[in-house]
Amino acid sequence: MVGTIGSVRSAPLGIFDSGVGGLTVVRAVQELLPAEDILYLGDTARLPYGSKSPETIRQFADQDVGFLVKRGVKAIVVACNTATAHALPSLQEKYDLPILGVIEPGVEAVLANPDAERIGIIATRGTIDSHAYQHALALRKTGLMIHGQATPLLVPLIEENWMDHPATRQVLKTYLDPLVEKGIDTLMLACTHYPLLMPILRDLLPADVRMVDSATTCAEHLNQELARLDLLHELGGVGKLDLHLTDLSDAFEALARQFLKQSTGRIHRAVLDA
Ligand code: DGL
Repeated sequence: MVGTIGSVRSAPLGIFDSGVGGLTVVRAVQELLPAEDILYLGDTARLPYGSKSPETIRQFADQDVGFLVKRGVKAIVVACNTATAHALPSLQEKYDLPILGVIEPGVEAVLANPDAERIGIIATRGTIDSHAYQHALALRKTGLMIHGQATPLLVPLIEENWMDHPATRQVLKTYLDPLVEKGIDTLMLACTHYPLLMPILRDLLPADVRMVDSATTCAEHLNQELARLDLLHELGGVGKLDLHLTDLSDAFEALARQFLKQSTGRIHRAVLDA
């Protein structure tokens, strides 16, 4: 990274996802670190990542990071579980800036409740097949019952803005029933899109099942890491959010507003280097 430490502190944070789901992480970061400028990249042209091979996901994530690094970000959050599961170690090895993922924070959020014993995980097929959550949970605590359920239809339903549609309810019931039958006490929403399904999930799950997502803990991790590296933005005020998507459409814009719960400002079209 070039520049004085002061100029590095005032550089933006880079956050990326395969689409607009990572904006749930952006919201959590804005709440905890309001002074930080954020440069967000959503690879909407190539969404979903969750059904692609590990090699392709690593290649896409590398191009996403390259885009952000070129624009001078001081640290990067991989706000995509699928990309974290398959690409985080290779990205951390290749690039010379702090790069954080969403899986460790998610695991920490699950284990924040000492009574969590029977964990259901819903995620893309890529995340479930990587076993990244299952391994990270088992490493941190022995004796857990862990049930991973690939839920590949959820991202298209959310991207279609069908959060409240009977078809989504039916699909969710099909995915959740086996987990409920196994008596889960915690459901990990291991995809950055899924927090938008919280109301319908709450409706479908037994009242004593706790739902966990990684956005808030991820923002806390980022805060700690920036403080440790003396990279927190020094000035107060409200940072700006700069949104870049590799494919622009009215539907993505509407969805982005819904994820952010605020207006998006102008969204730029991003062109990634090959
Ligand atoms: N947001 C991505 C994740 O957290 C899922 C979307 C996709 O499949 O690209 O895994």
